[in-house]
Amino acid sequence: MYGQCESRDLSTRGRVLPGFLSRCQLLVCLSPVFTYLYYFILLFLPVLRCLEPSKQLFRNMNNENFSLSEKIVSSSYIRQGSEARRSHEQLIRQLLEQGKCPEQGWSESTIELFLSELALMDSNNFLSNCGVGEREGRVASGLVARRHYRPKARFILWPRIDQKSCFKAMITAGYEPVVVENVLEGDELRTDVEAVDRKILELGAENVLCVHSTTSCFAPRTPDRLEELSALCSKHDIPHIVNNAYGVQSSKCMHLIQQGSRVGRIDAFVQSLDKNFMVPVGGAIIAGFDETFIQDISKMYPGRASASPSLDVLITLLTLGASGYKRLLSERKEMYSVLTQELKSLASAHGERLLHTPHNPISLAMSLSGFQGDNDKAVTQLGSMLFTRQVSGARVIPLGKEMTIAGHTFRGFMSHSEAYPCPYLNAASAVGIRRDDVTLCIKRLDKCLKTLKKQAANNDPSEPPSSQEHCEAAMDSLSMGQ
Ligand SMILES: *Cc1c(COP(=O)(O)O)cnc(C)c1O
Ligand SMILES: *[C@@H]1O[C@H](CO)[C@@H](O)[C@H](O)[C@H]1NC(C)=O
Repeated sequence: MYGQCESRDLSTRGRVLPGFLSRCQLLVCLSPVFTYLYYFILLFLPVLRCLEPSKQLFRNMNNENFSLSEKIVSSSYIRQGSEARRSHEQLIRQLLEQGKCPEQGWSESTIELFLSELALMDSNNFLSNCGVGEREGRVASGLVARRHYRPKARFILWPRIDQKSCFKAMITAGYEPVVVENVLEGDELRTDVEAVDRKILELGAENVLCVHSTTSCFAPRTPDRLEELSALCSKHDIPHIVNNAYGVQSSKCMHLIQQGSRVGRIDAFVQSLDKNFMVPVGGAIIAGFDETFIQDISKMYPGRASASPSLDVLITLLTLGASGYKRLLSERKEMYSVLTQELKSLASAHGERLLHTPHNPISLAMSLSGFQGDNDKAVTQLGSMLFTRQVSGARVIPLGKEMTIAGHTFRGFMSHSEAYPCPYLNAASAVGIRRDDVTLCIKRLDKCLKTLKKQAANNDPSEPPSSQEHCEAAMDSLSMGQ
């Protein structure tokens, strides 16, 4: 977290200067030594002798690491990358050598590189120096502190959602996630409430730390049955935490939470700032119905987190106003209908179908049954084609992937299910989406599907995309900037 110099809001070009300044402030507050250097440079003091020892560090930076990286990525990429980096380092070297303000101003990224290198050398940030007390670890220890409420409890009942960070969070906090598989109802994957109930009885309610449910998720999974889960939690006197990752933007998800709390127990629900408020990744909101409980969590605040995510949301909300935010939400809903229609007709044009997932208000899924063949090659290739064509967010889910996280193996990983009947493709209508996004995505998707079909017809499914294909992709991405 320290000196991270978040590569984040480089995209928020509208407020380049304040953005940059706030990041400086972030670094400043994190590092007293750095503060000193920062003002030193800002005030154009002519000699930077104090930086003498770091010359060496900047000079031979990373050669070895670049060559190590060549084992992972092709060497031409590494060459490009290291050249790009070297041009920044060159400027830094000049500054250290000459000890005076550069004639030509630096780009923001060079300044950031320099600042982050300095921040890394700050004693506060020495890796070996970081006790448990100083970093994110505190958030985890906040959870540990909650053990006091249920001293014996160590199981977290978790209706399966294939999102690694949820799972890792529970493991990191020192608990044992108990994965409850979903049930297939029509095309939809829905909460197996009975299985949760059975697990509670099997483990003993007093051993269950909480039920950890999810609202917003990729179709064909649907938001968990919050009413039933909440009622179950209240019956067994078990806390209930809801992962509402991008659910704030959907009235349906928010309604589910409200209902859950009305008929049963929801202790807290958590949502990401970036996904709901169009700010850079970084913060989250913890909310609940019992003010004291939220206050208790709030008191766990370790005291050194960055204020920047809060500031971003404040600025955004002030900029939009309540009416602006509501307008975005209703536009999103409208685009969900548009996307539904467009995907539906695209699917039928290609002999596929839009999976029927009426309980998922944000994400949609289109079958790729015709691309399955003997293996997932075509399906996987579609994924990489879409990536090349810069269709971001459209994710392709082949069957039978396996993933082991912290000792637990998820069969059918990414599909929230051990054996979903067909491979599929996801697209979502999330806040900020525009008609252009939908139109372009459908157009490119259509092209990709046609190309794959042609390939299959030529009876050579193993053929990699031709150079023609690459060329088209490049042209597409060029015309995307409009
Ligand atoms: C994005 C997401 C997360 C992780 O959210 P962060 O804001 O990155 O912590 C967890 N669960 C679901 C369902 C998500 O979509
Ligand atoms: C490569 O990275 C390692 C670990 O980050 C570091 O110790 C080493 O000095 C780096 N190599 C060079 C040449 O900078």
